[in-house]
Amino acid sequence: MCSLAKTLLAGMALLSTVTFASSYPEALNQLGRVATDAEVAAWDIDVRPDFKGLPVGSGSVEDGEAIWLDKCAVCHGDFGDSNEVFSPLVLGSITPEDMESGRVAALTDAAVVRTTLMKVATLSTIWDYINRAMPWNAPKSLEVDEVYALTAYLLHLGYIVEYDFVLSNENINDVQAQMPNRNGMTTDHGLWSVSGTPDVVGSGCTSDCKVDTTVTSFIPAYAMNAHGNLKDQVRDYGPFPGIQTAPESDAAEVAAPTNVIPEQALISNGCTGCHKQEGQLVGPSFNDIMARYKGQDAFEYLKGKVKNGGSGVWGSMAMPPMSQIDDSALQAIAEWLAADN
Ligand code: HEC
Ligand code: HEC
Repeated sequence: MCSLAKTLLAGMALLSTVTFASSYPEALNQLGRVATDAEVAAWDIDVRPDFKGLPVGSGSVEDGEAIWLDKCAVCHGDFGDSNEVFSPLVLGSITPEDMESGRVAALTDAAVVRTTLMKVATLSTIWDYINRAMPWNAPKSLEVDEVYALTAYLLHLGYIVEYDFVLSNENINDVQAQMPNRNGMTTDHGLWSVSGTPDVVGSGCTSDCKVDTTVTSFIPAYAMNAHGNLKDQVRDYGPFPGIQTAPESDAAEVAAPTNVIPEQALISNGCTGCHKQEGQLVGPSFNDIMARYKGQDAFEYLKGKVKNGGSGVWGSMAMPPMSQIDDSALQAIAEWLAADN
């Protein structure tokens, strides 16, 4: 048991032996201190969909344009349309009918690039996001009025407000009513499949609750590698290992560089059960193998030997055929062993 858990248990035992009213508050008094107003204010910056938390201020499209060119365009493009660092922020497939209905129809088409202005249902999200997270290299460096101005500029680029518009805490609610996807916030669909059933359904149940364990969500092909290969990011033991989301050809590219030990391939193919980097195990060490074939252009030979196994080169012990090994792993291992370094 970790010492923290022990301390907690000891504390609980202690508390249960004393009378609650007399000692409990006193024990609590010794833990931490009350956060100061300044500390709370520094954390409490969220702006909610109804604009609760929005600081008083204003900024014009014109000012926003200047700040944008100075601090944002380098990554997002002059008109917020660059996809260099992120999906484009503005434009995209928004139609006059969408503006009317408040629901961007193209979002249900998996092939369409989704921009921020297409997706976001609440203007508060854009304001809040810029305020807390942008510019990427210096988050929280913008003045309140600068955030208003930048938000106004993006709205202008999206044809939502005119060039002479000044956005403020007083009129932001009116602009919300013009957001193209303002009615797009729904919960009655699956996470990835917009025509699927919801993954999670909330209820007020607190005891003996029925849990529906049917899995209704999946990652569709187009979204598979949206955040890199999950298999490389999530632990590979336990009940929830990451699935392979990168195409196999990408995986081969990742495993390809020579001189880097293809550790995963060696472990997952069972090589390390018989070979160590240094010192004999069942088979010769990888260092000895590398030394033996140094400068001999042995790539093809080693590839064949790993795949087909064999005996007699290092002794009487045989290396079993490794016929299960996939091409990318085989390639990476043979390149590594045959590299002249
Ligand atoms: C150094 C590059 C860089 C700069 C400069 C930069 N951004 Fe970003 N921006 C990004 C990246 C990267 C993301 C995506 C971040 C993520 O998803 O975690 C992003 C995301 C955003 C988003 C959210 C889009 C969404 O749909 O979630 C907005 C809005 C945004 N930036 C506005 C700005 C504004 C305004 C500025 C200037 C004050 C700015 N950015 C400057 C790199 C940058
Ligand atoms: C069951 C034990 C075992 C496993 C598993 C095993 N090897 Fe071997 N390996 C050996 C033995 C024993 C030898 C020596 C064979 C010989 O004398 O030719 C050997 C030899 C080799 C050689 C040298 C071949 C030569 O001709 O010089 C290479 C390269 C090699 N193994 C790589 C691998 C790789 C890569 C894996 C995993 C894909 C692997 N081995 C899995 C036991 C094993």
